[in-house]
Amino acid sequence: MPRVLVRTTGCQMNVHDSEKIVNLLLHRGWSRARELEQADLLVINTCSIREKAEHHLYSDLGQLREWKAGGADRVLAVGGCVAQQEGDALLRRFPHLDFVFGTHSLRWVPALADAAREGRRAVRVAELRSLDRFDWPERHPDFPDATPGRAFLTVMEGCDLFCSFCIVPRTRGREISRPAEGILSEARSLVAGGVRELTLLGQTVNAYGRHDRRREQSRRSRGADPGANTTIGFADLLRALAGIPGLRRIRYTSPHPVFYDAALVRAHAELEALCPHVHLPAQSGSNSVLARMRRRYTREEYLVIAEALRAARPELVLTSDLIVGFPGETDRDFHETLSLVRDAGFVDSFSFKYSPRPGTPATDLPDAVAPALAQERLEELQTLQRAQTLAYHRSRIGHRTQVLVTGPSRRGGRQLSGRDPAHRVVNFEAPEGALLAPGTLHGVDVVAASPHSLIGTLAGSPPVRSTEPVGGWVPIEGALP
Ligand code: SAH
Ligand code: SF4
Ligand code: F3S
Repeated sequence: MPRVLVRTTGCQMNVHDSEKIVNLLLHRGWSRARELEQADLLVINTCSIREKAEHHLYSDLGQLREWKAGGADRVLAVGGCVAQQEGDALLRRFPHLDFVFGTHSLRWVPALADAAREGRRAVRVAELRSLDRFDWPERHPDFPDATPGRAFLTVMEGCDLFCSFCIVPRTRGREISRPAEGILSEARSLVAGGVRELTLLGQTVNAYGRHDRRREQSRRSRGADPGANTTIGFADLLRALAGIPGLRRIRYTSPHPVFYDAALVRAHAELEALCPHVHLPAQSGSNSVLARMRRRYTREEYLVIAEALRAARPELVLTSDLIVGFPGETDRDFHETLSLVRDAGFVDSFSFKYSPRPGTPATDLPDAVAPALAQERLEELQTLQRAQTLAYHRSRIGHRTQVLVTGPSRRGGRQLSGRDPAHRVVNFEAPEGALLAPGTLHGVDVVAASPHSLIGTLAGSPPVRSTEPVGGWVPIEGALP
């Protein structure tokens, strides 16, 4: 049985793509390698969002020459966003690379791997526009369930917004939404298999169905048949998913501010399963920077959405993505980003220095910010964010939260780790004798806070036994048999 290892960088969509590749290969008789030395096929699933990620790949590929030379049957492949962007240039640059496949070509990996084993090198980066791109086999029994109880679910792919700094529309192609029936039936089957928390994925996930609805409306207005491929909106999709018995938590990522409407805000007020956490990338707090980024909203409009979401669900936690050092960013612009962090009350954020990407319009903008100044701004922003994160964590002390167990805590000992509804990491001590499976939900009392996590103790009196066994058990020291 040939064995595959997949290395992944980038966003959750890439992580999920890697799951799809492994699942497909398992269905074709492959098995998983635990480490590089055992692998017959190594797939590197890449990200090109910033230059650094791309450079990482090139140095990795250089180092893999030795591995490739270590066995005549070893196959080396590169997929993902760098593959989509670079195509056959990668094969020319790295003679020890066997095949390259783009973001629309995951389903050809088994065939490309077979061809490579017969000595044929290939590139496959064509964009796939048909809806069958969303059809995948069910989870194989050996599916690597990295986080039992949780699963990703693709609802749309691609991006039509073309923000001036971003490579994604060039690597993921045009926006396309998956028919709701396919989403719901995959969700039902995941829940039947023990999944309690779903994360809906899409590059602009809350744009879900907009193109199909517009086409449907125009056909109706012409008196024509609306067609079979009509799609519901994102809020209705959430509502339908929330109706699946046994599904306890729904998340979505990444939404874009321009696609929030009253229905989506209402969904946050009405759907218990919809988690009180929204990761809503803002990128900047300055209107002039936002305009040059072509983000299509102002700081004020962003804050209106933040307020509306909090009014709908008072405990809602807002997190964000921010870029510093965008061309032309002045000190004043930067201070507007700092004040947005405060005004929007971000509980956490990912922040990045602007990185020019090939073929994107921002590369032509004047007034580049000096790297040292961008670094300074990044550190100032992150210092502010850390303080704000810690303040939020401290405000949770004394409250009870609900944790979906992900596994043993990195802190070791008897501690377990998990995520609460707001997606905060919670490390908690389980009493002796407790058996808590990854993927199960438990009440935890928050007793302390650190900058990175909440610290708590299992609510209820010991010994506790989980009632919803999913996946493997985490044996706690001194556990009952
Ligand atoms: N679709 C999401 C963003 C996906 S990319 C949205 O529209 O918000 C993830 C994050 O990477 C972005 O939110 C942005 O903060 C960052 N990013 C994207 N391109 C970048 C670039 N060229 N330089 C630095 N950061 C970038
Ligand atoms: Fe990139 Fe903008 Fe599309 Fe997000 S919305 S993926 S930042 S182009
Ligand atoms: Fe990276 Fe591609 Fe995701 S560029 S962030 S892996 S869509």
